[in-house]
Amino acid sequence: MPVKQGKFITFEGPDGSGKTAQLDILADELIQDGYPILKTREPGGTAIGDQIRATLLDLKNTAMVDRTEALLYQAARSQLVEEIIRPHLAKGGIVLCDRYADSTLAYQGYGHRNTMESLQGIIHYATGGLIPDLTILLDLDPEVGLQRRLDAGGVNRLDSYDIHFHQRVRAGYLDLVQENPERWVIVDAGRPINQVQKELREILLQWLTSWGY
Ligand code: TMP
Repeated sequence: MPVKQGKFITFEGPDGSGKTAQLDILADELIQDGYPILKTREPGGTAIGDQIRATLLDLKNTAMVDRTEALLYQAARSQLVEEIIRPHLAKGGIVLCDRYADSTLAYQGYGHRNTMESLQGIIHYATGGLIPDLTILLDLDPEVGLQRRLDAGGVNRLDSYDIHFHQRVRAGYLDLVQENPERWVIVDAGRPINQVQKELREILLQWLTSWGY
């Protein structure tokens, strides 16, 4: 019997939404429950992608122009899709990815005001048209998110863009949800970590069951 194609789940949200920490806990629990989970992240997730990530997030790279930024994200993405994501999906596995193409639309599109058409073109080129089956938006007021990042001492080059940039990113995410509501679930990330964690787990288990896992 042919192996069924796996499922691709992405997690999006403004900086400081707690996405990465939440995803770590969630993935560990689902693996313990026996689900064939592979957790990865963008930009990064491969040796080449991690080098591109370092360039993208380095606070010293103030000279980076918008188009260079957009293209570097796609370069890291194409490597991740071919090396990691597609092979796991081909085995029938579940991929949980911390950010994906919607981050490009929100940050480089709404944030930097590049046109959606040009970004859709380079995203398609980078991914070969791979679209997530489910995307969870950890929604948060960007002021709260950036304060969390400052408190944690982990500010990167993208965080350092002004608050209006981050407000456009959040509004962008909410627009993207409106355009494709069947693919998205919004989770309020302004609540205590354990509440958010509980809701994330319930959502994931519901979708995994509906897919026959
Ligand atoms: P993070 O790993 O802390 O989320 O950092 C990644 C940063 O890169 C974050 O500020 C969002 C940004 N980003 C983009 O601007 N475009 C993209 O396509 C991706 C994947 C991330």
